[in-house]
Amino acid sequence: MNSTTPRSSAFTPTTLDPKSTDSTPPRSQARESHLRGSRREFLGTGAAASLAAGVFVHAGVSAAEPARELRLGVVGCGGRGSGAINDSLTINDGVKLVALADLYTDKCARLRSTLAQAHGEKVAVDDQAMHGGLDGYRRIFDDPQIDVVLLTMPPGFRPTLLREAVEAGKHVFAEKPVCVDPAGYRSCLATHELAVARGTAIVTGTQYRRQVNYLGAIEQIRSGAIGEIIAGTGTYCSNGIWYRPRQEGMSDAEYQVNNWMHFIWLSGDQIGEQAIHTLDTINWAMGENPISAFGSGGRFTRPADSEMWDSMAVDYEYPGDRFVSFTCWQIPGAATDLHVSLRGTKGTCHIGAINAGCRIVDRSGREIWQMKGSIADAYKQEHKDLIDSIRAGNPIVELRQTADSSLVAIMGRMAAYSGKKVTWTFASEESQLDLFPKDLTWDASLPQPQWAIPGKTPLV
Ligand SMILES: NC(=O)c1ccc[n+]([C@@H]2O[C@H](COP(=O)([O-])OP(=O)(O)OC[C@H]3O[C@@H](n4cnc5c(N)ncnc54)[C@H](O)[C@@H]3O)[C@@H](O)[C@H]2O)c1
Repeated sequence: MNSTTPRSSAFTPTTLDPKSTDSTPPRSQARESHLRGSRREFLGTGAAASLAAGVFVHAGVSAAEPARELRLGVVGCGGRGSGAINDSLTINDGVKLVALADLYTDKCARLRSTLAQAHGEKVAVDDQAMHGGLDGYRRIFDDPQIDVVLLTMPPGFRPTLLREAVEAGKHVFAEKPVCVDPAGYRSCLATHELAVARGTAIVTGTQYRRQVNYLGAIEQIRSGAIGEIIAGTGTYCSNGIWYRPRQEGMSDAEYQVNNWMHFIWLSGDQIGEQAIHTLDTINWAMGENPISAFGSGGRFTRPADSEMWDSMAVDYEYPGDRFVSFTCWQIPGAATDLHVSLRGTKGTCHIGAINAGCRIVDRSGREIWQMKGSIADAYKQEHKDLIDSIRAGNPIVELRQTADSSLVAIMGRMAAYSGKKVTWTFASEESQLDLFPKDLTWDASLPQPQWAIPGKTPLV
């Protein structure tokens, strides 16, 4: 274990008492109320079915505060945490980074140093405002001076930290995916409602929803350029991903959280951690959630103790007898392909990821529309939208749509792992899958990693 991390560090997943969403208890009372519950207690509430749909731009609760400096804290100072805070400090005026949390405080210190060089006085992080360990983030949430938190730690932690951040009155930027199992999905739906009730923003790291050519393509589809969508294909096929070997002295918990990509309770597998961008675009274009998922996949190249599969291929059925075929893989040496193609009665819309651009062809194959866009601009736009919405007193709350897309990935994974068809109803309302270990501590022993085997892995 890194010497900068307190050994007492512990992480206990907690839940929101859904009955508390209609009022704002004092901070200490909110803390007590969420410590009482467990995620399982919350599953029986049926709250999911009654929640409002999609993005919610809150009107009326928060006062507009155009002039006040907004103070930011980051939880998770790795690759994306560094990128996200850099984007926010670059695009926004009147913001200041004041706190950092990571498992390892030396990662906080490195990020502080890099950002200070780039952003000068916008970076004001005291030594005491760099927090280590699994639960160091709570000191950021408990700091009343901090307005906005960026949640860029591994996905498995996201549902609990999202809820705790909103309970603490923070505005949030949360990376994707926002959950890795149905229990986390239902927690996110409750947190969405809580954020709406309390007037705190939640913007998510589904940056393509802010990329101009994606917005242009969706506008074309909505205005009828390809007619009615009748089918589609989507891919997220890439070459591979990092693996962080176990260091001498690491407990199971430290090893798995550090090498989080390879453990499903932390990453959700590639379909959730990475390919969600494709699934989110499909869901956005289709305008609704799929009815069911049926698929397969396997593992050929992963390290022995990785739980990840190399590839998955899933057919999603959408209402109206419309099917979207989806494929993802991370296989060194195999082709890279990242696209969504939506086939309509009058034409096809091809959406290429990153900076590849979008185009529409008619049924004869003739191009009738095209547009380019910049992913770098989209990464910044999400942080501008977040801060602008807070300043305007209309905080964006878009957790639900990203929770839905996360569940699309989860149901695809459940179908492939089990070898059974998985319905939206089962995944969203009935499944009891809750992957997060109970009472996680730095020194915890965790079960031996196991990868799924269709026909043997149960659907729970
Ligand atoms: N939107 C995008 O295009 C995009 C791109 C890359 C990553 N991401 C997402 O960003 C998230 C982070 O990915 P990354 O590539 O930065 O991973 P990373 O491993 O580089 O960084 C994660 C950091 O979180 C820290 N961490 C782990 N548990 C923590 C805890 N309990 N409290 C505080 N810190 C903790 C780790 O020590 C690490 O520094 C993932 O959800 C990933 O899917 C999104």
